[in-house]
Formats: sequence, C-alpha cells, structure tokens
Amino acid sequence: MKPSIYTSTVRFAFPVILTVVVYFHAISCQETRPFDVCGETVQCGDISLEYPFWGFDRPAYCGHPDFQLTCQSNVPLLSYESVNYRVLDMNTSTHTITIARNDLRANFCPQFLYNTSYNSTLFNGHIFGQRNVSLFYDCNTSMPQIPLGSTYQFTCDVNGSQTDGYFFRSDIITPGMANFFAHCKNHIDVLINQPWAARLGVKHATTDYLWSALWDGFQLQWTANKDECNQCIRSNGRCGSDLTSTHLFACYCANGNFRLNCNDSNGSRGKLFSNLVVGIFTFCSDKEPVRRLFETPVNGPKNHNSRILVT
Ligand SMILES: *[C@@H]1O[C@H](CO)[C@@H](O)[C@H](O)[C@H]1NC(C)=O
Ligand SMILES: *[C@@H]1O[C@H](CO)[C@@H](O)[C@H](O)[C@H]1NC(C)=O
Ligand SMILES: *[C@@H]1O[C@H](CO)[C@@H](O)[C@H](O)[C@H]1NC(C)=O
Ligand SMILES: *[C@@H]1O[C@H](CO)[C@@H](O)[C@H](O)[C@H]1NC(C)=O
Ligand SMILES: *[C@@H]1O[C@H](CO)[C@@H](O)[C@H](O)[C@H]1NC(C)=O
Ligand SMILES: *[C@@H]1O[C@H](CO)[C@@H](O)[C@H](O)[C@H]1NC(C)=O
Ligand SMILES: *[C@@H]1O[C@H](CO)[C@@H](O)[C@H](O)[C@H]1NC(C)=O
Ligand SMILES: *[C@@H]1O[C@H](CO)[C@@H](O)[C@H](O)[C@H]1NC(C)=O
Repeated sequence: MKPSIYTSTVRFAFPVILTVVVYFHAISCQETRPFDVCGETVQCGDISLEYPFWGFDRPAYCGHPDFQLTCQSNVPLLSYESVNYRVLDMNTSTHTITIARNDLRANFCPQFLYNTSYNSTLFNGHIFGQRNVSLFYDCNTSMPQIPLGSTYQFTCDVNGSQTDGYFFRSDIITPGMANFFAHCKNHIDVLINQPWAARLGVKHATTDYLWSALWDGFQLQWTANKDECNQCIRSNGRCGSDLTSTHLFACYCANGNFRLNCNDSNGSRGKLFSNLVVGIFTFCSDKEPVRRLFETPVNGPKNHNSRILVT
C-alpha cells in the first residue's frame, strides 16, 4: 500500500512542480525557442552560417557536431587535422562549401606540412572535376636531368635554409617525374578546383597559377543529414541536433521540436515535455539546479516515451 501511495503522490506532485518552475522560466526565458534561435542570421564576414554549420554566435544545437566554424577577424575558419581552411562560400542548395588552405595562402612553404585531408564520411571532394596538385619540398636539384621546366619550381626559405620545391598536377605525373620527385624529402597533396586544374594541366604552368589556385580554393560537398534536413525544411522547420544526444538529428519547428519534421505529431504530451526541457537546457543552462531537476526524469527509463526526440 505504502509504495503505491508514495508513487501516486510523486506522480501528482511532479507535474505540479514542473508546471510552477516552467512557468517562472517561461517568464524569464522568452523568445528562446530553438526554432527562433536557429532561424537567426549569424554572419562572419560575408558568410551566413546555416545548418550543418555552427559556431561563434550560432549554438551547437543549430548544427551538426562535426561542423564547427570559428570566426577570426571576420574570416570564417574550418579546422581539420591541424589545417585551417578559410570558408569563402557556402551553398545550402548544392550542399557545398568553398574553402581555401590558410597555411598556403601567403606562400607555398609553411613550416609544417600537411596534406589536404578531410573526413570522407562527412565530405566529398570528388566533385566538379577537382584535382590534386602535389607540392614537393626539399628536392635534390643536382640531379643530372630534371624532367620538368623551371616554371614548376619554387624556392623555400624555411628553418633557416633554402631548398628547392616543385609542383605538378598529381594525376598526370609521369613515371620519369616520379623518379625525380623521389629525390624530394617531403610532399603534400592539395585539392584545387576544376578551372585551375585545367590550367595547371597544360604545358608550362606557372607558380602564379598555383598561387591563384590555392587562393581560390576548392569545394567540398557535405553529406551530413542532407535528406533529413531537406525534409525538415520542406515542413517549415529548422535543422539542428538533439540537445541530449548531439549526434541525433532534430527538426525545430514553430510548434515544437521533432525528430524528423514538423508534421511528426507523435505524442503531444511528450512533445510538450521535451520542448520545455529543451528550453531550460538551452537558455537557462546557467541555472544548474533547474537543469539537473529535469535531466534525470527525462533520461530515466520510465519517461522514455515522453521524449519526442526518440532514438
Ligand atoms: C547555389 O548553387 C546553385 C547551383 O550552382 C546556384 O543556382 C545558386 O545561385 C547558388 N546559391 C547561392 C546562394 O549562391
Ligand atoms: C622546420 O622545423 C620544424 C621543427 O624542427 C620541423 O618539424 C619541420 O618539419 C621543419 N620544416 C621543414 C619544411 O623542413
Ligand atoms: C568521420 O566522421 C564520422 C562521423 O562523425 C566519425 O564516426 C568518424 O570517426 C570520422 N572519421 C575520422 C577518421 O575522423
Ligand atoms: C587527392 O589526394 C588524396 C590523397 O592525398 C586522395 O585521398 C583524394 O582522393 C584525392 N582527390 C582527388 C579529387 O583526386
Ligand atoms: C643529389 O643527387 C646527386 C646526383 O644523383 C647525388 O650525387 C647527391 O649525393 C644528392 N645529394 C643529396 C643531398 O642527396
Ligand atoms: C601526404 O600524403 C601522401 C600520400 O597520399 C604521403 O606520401 C605524404 O607523406 C603525405 N604528406 C604529409 C606531409 O603527411
Ligand atoms: C507536412 O504537411 C504539409 C501540410 O499537410 C504538407 O504540405 C507537407 O508536404 C508535409 N511535409 C512533409 C515533409 O511531410
Ligand atoms: C510515429 O510513431 C510511429 C510508431 O512509434 C512510427 O512508426 C511513425 O513513423 C512515427 N511517425 C513519424 C512521422 O515519425
């Protein structure tokens, strides 16, 4: 008998406490739905951030965890494997960003050498006829025969010593050249866009071309939740990620927060509950005790069906 009275008291008391606390929070946390926040224009320089990107003034729940950008002196930067890329353009209808290597922008000879690498489950670079250019460093130029013209040569002054470097479009390196390049101590591959790939593919390409190609950058197409996001947008929602399980997609709508799109009407009680928690999580997260109060019941097994962002 006793446990059942206790349980029903808790069952009764909890919604009351919840309502009271939420009511006061609703007063102090107005206009803070994820739908509104993720719809705000956040800019760095000329670039407006949109899903899956987030960073500076755009919270993580408006993006995908792997797509964080930083903003330095009005330049949006994407970091991958120790390399900073300047974001030059972003197109959400083609799901592409145009980025350029920041380390090779001023000269071809950075102190630390890195390939252009990106996570191929998140991005695709095999698009629009893009090609790699290989940059070879610290080459032994006292070879009897050098199989390519001096226009492919550049000089590096790094770590206090002068060395010779060469570049060539990776996909058209002949075996003879490869033999020569074997006498270079280091090499990196960098992606360049199709127009510059074409110019660098003809005879007597110059370092000016290479310089322009690196300056112009290349495009990457993102694949993250592409279909989910299109569906969410079509239902007038805004794409983001679940607050508690950030790897899960979320669709933020004027009428609440959903797993896929704004037409998902599963569980109205659950939806309401989750929305309130999301609001508290997000905008009043400085109020730690309140956050903790709600965290436990939401994640508890008994309330699993009351979460709208179900796994
Ligand atoms: C995105 O790319 C498409 C296709 O190339 C183009 O028509 C559209 O104008 C671009 N959108 C923006 C905002 O640049
Ligand atoms: C320059 O020196 C650093 C540190 O000693 C080294 O890691 C780097 O590879 C060197 N760079 C080049 C281009 O030799
Ligand atoms: C690439 O991204 C996926 C999805 O976020 C992740 O699971 C994987 O570990 C990443 N791979 C590398 C090499 O970072
Ligand atoms: C560029 O080179 C890297 C390896 O360095 C390779 O993984 C990638 O597929 C190449 N991309 C293109 C478009 O050839
Ligand atoms: C450079 O190549 C020449 C000719 O093959 C060779 O004699 C010399 O030892 C090489 N120098 C270095 C530093 O490898
Ligand atoms: C770049 O990648 C190539 C193979 O794709 C590798 O041989 C080379 O050592 C890498 N360069 C650096 C600096 O990691
Ligand atoms: C959502 O519902 C609206 C109106 O009923 C409909 O026009 C739209 O196609 C639906 N969207 C999705 C993604 O189901
Ligand atoms: C609603 O829930 C049912 C059963 O849990 C599921 O099959 C259905 O796909 C859900 N609807 C949407 C739009 O997600």
